[in-house]
Order: sequence, then structure tokens, then C-alpha cells
Amino acid sequence: MQRALALAVLGRGFVEPNPMVGAVLLDANGAVVGGGFHGRFGGPHAEVNALAASGDAARGGTLFVTLEPCCHTGKTPPCTEAVLKSGVRRVVVAMADPFPAVAGGGLQILRDNGLSVDVGLCEAEAERLNAPYRMLLRQHRPWVIAKWAMSLDGKIATRNGDSKWISNARSRAKVHELRGRVDAILVGRGTLLADDPLLTARPAGARIAARIVVSASGKLPETCQWLLTVAQAPVIVATTAPDARELAPWRNAGAEILGIDGPMIPGLLAELGRRRMTNILVEGGAGLLGSFRDADAIDEVHAYIAPVSIGGVNALSPLGGVGISAMVEAVRFGDVSVEVLDGDVWIAARRA
Ligand SMILES: NC(=O)c1ccc[n+]([C@@H]2O[C@H](COP(=O)([O-])OP(=O)(O)OC[C@H]3O[C@@H](n4cnc5c(N)ncnc54)[C@H](OP(=O)(O)O)[C@@H]3O)[C@@H](O)[C@H]2O)c1
Repeated sequence: MQRALALAVLGRGFVEPNPMVGAVLLDANGAVVGGGFHGRFGGPHAEVNALAASGDAARGGTLFVTLEPCCHTGKTPPCTEAVLKSGVRRVVVAMADPFPAVAGGGLQILRDNGLSVDVGLCEAEAERLNAPYRMLLRQHRPWVIAKWAMSLDGKIATRNGDSKWISNARSRAKVHELRGRVDAILVGRGTLLADDPLLTARPAGARIAARIVVSASGKLPETCQWLLTVAQAPVIVATTAPDARELAPWRNAGAEILGIDGPMIPGLLAELGRRRMTNILVEGGAGLLGSFRDADAIDEVHAYIAPVSIGGVNALSPLGGVGISAMVEAVRFGDVSVEVLDGDVWIAARRA
């Protein structure tokens, strides 16, 4: 199953809003005879690829798969049919599929046809791998990754708003990799004004993220890099003032003006969920990241800490907004990863 999980990860960025899935086949003697993974949205599922790789050797064998085989016709025929046809005797599944059209139905069909079915091997790892998929299915919103680069003293810009560059080239390259696998990249109006960032993935990744600026006022600049590059990556303005006159050049340039009624963060997340966005990346600044924190909507953090000091009581720290008043209210993240990147330190953590 560990091998199947490692295969599943190869689909990251290519398969969403589908889940990442990997499969490994053992023949009747317990020898590995094939493996496969779900490689792209709409493409064949992991089981089908693993069965194709195994051929006749699957007969009497065991299929290890990280997610319950599907039993409905979606973009491809049901995997349960392929499994039954293959002559596999036993199926070991890491986790049941929460997708409503499957939800235990795939396991039932296999059992009804006399196969031995076990569920729950490496379940925690499988659930962790597909946490964004599960979030979208259960809470109808994307998984939110918050990213910032800060100094040793916890500042994301100088007191004048300068932040180019706090982190080093290797850290920034890692951010570009992340940008290349998410559905949207978000910044607040303040960051757009201060930095005029391009926010594309360079080099390009598995998918092209929409670029979203969040602005209650809609008072956006008349020109900026985004307006010149709408054809490269879509631009969306999420605003509670869709009729603001400053938005006319944005409309004319081909940006989408997305009016949000009511509280911004839940409203925007619900809309992005309706668009089946699975992962979104919030790149700052402090105001927007603080809004996500205050809405308890940060699922994963990527903090880049550079060995520089900035100082200044007026220099921003990563999370603005209102914040908490007592430590008991704090969200404690788990699953911590740490890497040293040419002297910067990258810390990632996620909702436990
Ligand atoms: N080091 C880093 O990783 C990093 C990353 C990004 C930015 N930065 C730095 O951060 C600074 C900018 O940060 P900032 O805090 O001033 O600005 P910001 O967070 O980029 O933008 C704040 C603006 O976003 C809009 N906004 C945020 N939350 C909202 C909500 N819940 N509803 C509606 N609108 C919302 C508001 O726009 P309206 O005014 O229109 O209401 C608000 O004024 C710059 O100096 C930049 O260089 C650093």
C-alpha cells in the first residue's frame, strides 16, 4: 500500500478535482506484477492502469488500491467491472470513497461477487493525501494553503512595504512549484498595489491557476502586470463593490468581476467550491491572510523564514486581521515538515 500511495502522488496537480489514486497488483504467489496511478482528470483510473500493466498475471492475485474502486460510470466505465473481469481474488483498499455515487457501493459490489475485500490499510496516509478532495466533497470548498516569506523577526515587509526579496532564489523556486499545481492564487488589494506581482508559475506546472485579487472597495489600479497578461492566466476580482468605476479597465481587459454578497471569505470559498477548485494558495499580504485566519479557513501553512532582520513596530507580520485573544482559541497545526533551502528554513504544517 505504501507503494500504491507513492504512485498516487504522481497525479498531484493533474487529476483534481478527482482524487489522487495509486494501485499495485500482486499475483497469486504474492509477487508484484504491476502498478498504476490516476494520471490526469478524465483519464483512466489507477486500478485500470495497474490491471493493464499486469495482464493475465492478475488472475487469482491481490489488488492494493489507495481508494475504493468506483462503481459508477463517470468519465470512464466503473472500475469494479474491470476488477471483476481481471480475475483478481482479493482487494485491499486504504479508504472508502466519500464520493456520493460510490460511498461503499464499490466495496459492496466486489464482496457480492465473492471477492475478499479489506479496508483501512494505511487509511490515515490515504486520507491525508486526499484531504483537499475530501474537503471539497464534504465542505464544498477548496483546501486553503497560506504561504508567506518572513524575516527571522517575523516580518513580511519593511515598514515602507518593501518585500522584494526576503526569501532566497531556492525558496522562491519552491513557491513556483506550488503555484503550478493549485487552482487559484489569491492576494489582497494591498499586495497588488505594493508589489504588482505576476503570480504565474515559472516554469509552468501541471495546471494554470486563476489569479484572484480580493478587494472590498474595488479600488484597483488602472494598469498592472495582470491586466497585460489576462490571456496567460485568468484574472478574477472578488469584491463587494462590483460596480466600482475603477473596475472598468479590468472588465475591458478580460478580467472577471465576481461580486460577493455578505462576508467575503466564506462567500468566496463557496463560489470557488462551486467551480470545483480543489486547492487554492493565499499569498498575502497580512490583511488577506488575517481575514482567512479570522474565518478559520487556513488548512495548510507554508512559511519561508529567511535569516534577515527587518524590525520596526509598523512592519507587517504574516497574519493581520483581528487575531485571537487567548491561546486556547489557537488552531494548532500538525504534520510539520521542515527543510533548509540554502539557508532559508521552510516550515509546512497542516490542520490536524
Ligand atoms: N513576504 C511575503 O510573503 C508577502 C506576501 C504578500 C505581500 N507582502 C507584503 O504585504 C504588504 C501588503 O499587505 P497588506 O496587509 O497591506 O495588504 P493585503 O492583505 O494584500 O490587502 C489588503 C486588502 O485586501 C482586501 N481584503 C483583505 N481581506 C478582505 C476581506 N475579508 N474582505 C474584503 N476585502 C479584503 C482589502 O481591500 P480594500 O482596501 O479594497 O477593501 C484590504 O485593504 C505589502 O508590503 C507586500 O509587499 C509580503
